[in-house]
Amino acid sequence: MSKRTVLITGGAGFIGSHLVKRFLKSHAHRIVTLDKLTYAGHLGNLSDVLENENHRFVKGDICDASLLDRLFAEENISDVIHLAAESHVDRSIESPLDFVQTNVLGTVSLLNAAKKHWNGDRNKRFHHVSTDEVFGSLGEEGAFHEHTNYDPRSPYSASKASSDHFVRAYAHTYGMNVVISNCSNNYGPNQFPEKLIPLMINNIVKHHPLPVYGEGLNVRDWLWVEDHAEALDLVFHQGTAGESYNIGGNEEWKNIDLVHALCEQMDQILERPAGSSASLITHVKDRAGHDLRYAIDASKIKKELHWEAKMSFENGLRATALWYLENDQWMESVMDGSYRDYYERQYQNR
Ligand code: NAD
Ligand code: DAU
Repeated sequence: MSKRTVLITGGAGFIGSHLVKRFLKSHAHRIVTLDKLTYAGHLGNLSDVLENENHRFVKGDICDASLLDRLFAEENISDVIHLAAESHVDRSIESPLDFVQTNVLGTVSLLNAAKKHWNGDRNKRFHHVSTDEVFGSLGEEGAFHEHTNYDPRSPYSASKASSDHFVRAYAHTYGMNVVISNCSNNYGPNQFPEKLIPLMINNIVKHHPLPVYGEGLNVRDWLWVEDHAEALDLVFHQGTAGESYNIGGNEEWKNIDLVHALCEQMDQILERPAGSSASLITHVKDRAGHDLRYAIDASKIKKELHWEAKMSFENGLRATALWYLENDQWMESVMDGSYRDYYERQYQNR
């Protein structure tokens, strides 16, 4: 690919920030990060690259059509990697409309801007970062592959499925060059502590109860965030237009087993008596409509793009625990929003 200007939405969030940093390190592309800095977005996640001359951070909403229009024109955006979203299933159960607003309407706003400014140029690519949750829930056996029927079951997954459909519709109707990737549960540094692993780490440190939904028998397929960023890099640069790619870590864990494994690691790291973290485990009311099992068949990306996850779950979990323990200030600041206020003051005039 020649020199590009890639708009990465949601780049101050968990996965987006790893992707922005990877791209600035590995490619000569100019990166424009667009992020609204909701509760889940933190400029601190990008502190290493805020001054990078190939990078511009813009605070803004993907639903703001006039901002998108200006940005596409001003920066001559050649590609979009779209990650901005409301991403937490529990919040979607409380407030579905927020998910329709950002995940559905925001995606269509971006597609409209790309359609207008790219004017049918198939050299320009729109990559939508989606989720395995669009495929619904598995029983004990099997795995999601790219042709599995869509069967979203939470307001979050329904909004992501809808945005996938719009991306495909724009490819079919207007001839846009699109790729979609559907990945499993990411984990690693910089994940907002409402998600299972960082929430449990935070609670263990503070001796708070560890809330396991229901019996904890639900299964997730865990993917190290930097393995995911590598896969996104390949899909963006080498994926076939119009195709989708499943990305998974091949690390299926029942929630209760995962929490026990984490407790053991935390006892060792914190030098607490064996079993003390596990004694905090508390079974709580199950999530409404809780999907039983997700698992990804990642053979297509392995065969076509020669990618597979490298990080073992044991090592990744330990690295994650250590990162959170070493970054307790990050944890505190994202919880109370003070970090966001500080950076916003610094960057409000850019
Ligand atoms: P995240 O919640 O950590 O980050 C989302 C980012 O989007 C935040 O920085 C937030 O400020 C920004 N944002 C939200 N609404 C916005 C708006 N209207 N305009 C501009 N920016 C906005 O999410 P994440 O876990 O990094 O997920 C990134 C993407 O990957 C999402 O699209 C999500 O659906 C998808 N995904 C995540 C996982 C996972 O395990 N985390 C798995 C599969 C797919
Ligand atoms: O599968 C991909 C999806 O993974 C992404 O699309 C979502 O953006 C991401 O949030 C994640 O969704 P999950 O709902 O699987 O992740 P979460 O961390 O919220 O929960 C993981 C599992 O742990 C799930 O079965 C619910 C359970 N859980 C979660 C929390 C927060 C608990 O038992 N207790 C908790 O406190």
